[in-house]
Amino acid sequence: MPKRILATLNDTSVFLQEWLTNPRRTGAIVPSSKKLAAAMARWLPTEANEYVLELGPGTGAVTQALIGRGLHPQRLIAIEKNPKMAGILRDRFPRAHIITGDARHLDRLLQEQLNGHGTVGAVISSLPLRNFPADVAEELAGKIRAILSPKGKWVQYTYHLGKERLKGAAHFRLLTSNVVWLNLPPARVSVYQK
Ligand SMILES: C[S@@+](CC[C@H](N)C(=O)[O-])C[C@H]1O[C@@H](n2cnc3c(N)ncnc32)[C@H](O)[C@@H]1O
Repeated sequence: MPKRILATLNDTSVFLQEWLTNPRRTGAIVPSSKKLAAAMARWLPTEANEYVLELGPGTGAVTQALIGRGLHPQRLIAIEKNPKMAGILRDRFPRAHIITGDARHLDRLLQEQLNGHGTVGAVISSLPLRNFPADVAEELAGKIRAILSPKGKWVQYTYHLGKERLKGAAHFRLLTSNVVWLNLPPARVSVYQK
């Protein structure tokens, strides 16, 4: 069987197992489709020397799209809470900075990684934010806002297709928001700017 198909089957089975263990944290039964990953990855920073912070990368569907679109792996910092998924990511993207940790501590984790050198031009998040308590989502959004460069963008998808603002997004300007139908389930991608 071709390697790519094997990897897709393997990722799907990892998601299913992890979802059965912890559905609220895993947030999805299967990885994102190529269409959804591409819709997220088109918001790479225009400045090549800026970092991209990926939150909730899972097994790397969006990560792959970011790199495929030209992001240098060394400019990618990804925070994944699930240690098994973080291990898969490390094998798959050895030159990226994969952190096993909680996105709620992104300020500290980023500081440890960058030590004050380098700016973040985009936060690409697949976190299941709707499963977060409102105060936690607010705090997280505040931290995203604080670490983004002045024109930086926060890109977030959700399976809720309504147009209401995401939890925590009140202090951002909504740039665009579109539904990607070719995903299981369909998802809304929203792009916020400071
Ligand atoms: C819906 S999945 C998305 C995975 C992948 N980006 C994709 O699109 O296929 C959400 C991911 O967020 C991770 N996650 C959930 N809560 C987290 C947290 N507090 N910090 C970091 N990662 C978290 C889950 O383990 C899971 O991998």
